[in-house]
Amino acid sequence: MATDVISLITEDHRTVEALFERLKKEEGDPKTTVAELHALLTAHARAEEDRVYPDLDAHHGLEEHKEAEVLLDELVRARPGTPEFRQTLEKLSSAVTHHVEEEEGDLLPQLARQAGKQRLEELGEAFKQRRDEELRALRAVHDGATKAELYEQAQQADIPGRSQMDKEELQEAVRKSTS
Ligand SMILES: [Fe+2]
Repeated sequence: MATDVISLITEDHRTVEALFERLKKEEGDPKTTVAELHALLTAHARAEEDRVYPDLDAHHGLEEHKEAEVLLDELVRARPGTPEFRQTLEKLSSAVTHHVEEEEGDLLPQLARQAGKQRLEELGEAFKQRRDEELRALRAVHDGATKAELYEQAQQADIPGRSQMDKEELQEAVRKSTS
């Protein structure tokens, strides 16, 4: 697997595009996909800002990242299936497409020209470390929310012993109570 910064960033872009596709085609659970999109885009943007943009002197990307962050928050709050959700998804996906085109068409080739092979590897390492650290923290927040939601469902279904259950047990008990 390639470990230079250009390959890593490009890979993330493809993953993000696949998540947008899932949401547009309404495949799978939209809330889970939105949470994953939120975590990945946020971690990706922070790692770029902290570890890659300084080498490029690219201030331009920061504005776009902020815009995407606002839209991401709106998408997390919107209810899947509503016109508001679809509109926000459209806006966010075109903002991200623009960012991807600019990076892959301009910024990354510029970086490839100015940095040597070794520097690209170093940046890749730094980018990945920062991105993974962010991703772990964001996913933990999401899992926490999910456990709280499950607990609430267990409470509504009056499942005995719920306060002693871990996330998997809650999931199982809630599933049984609704089937
Ligand atoms: Fe990017």
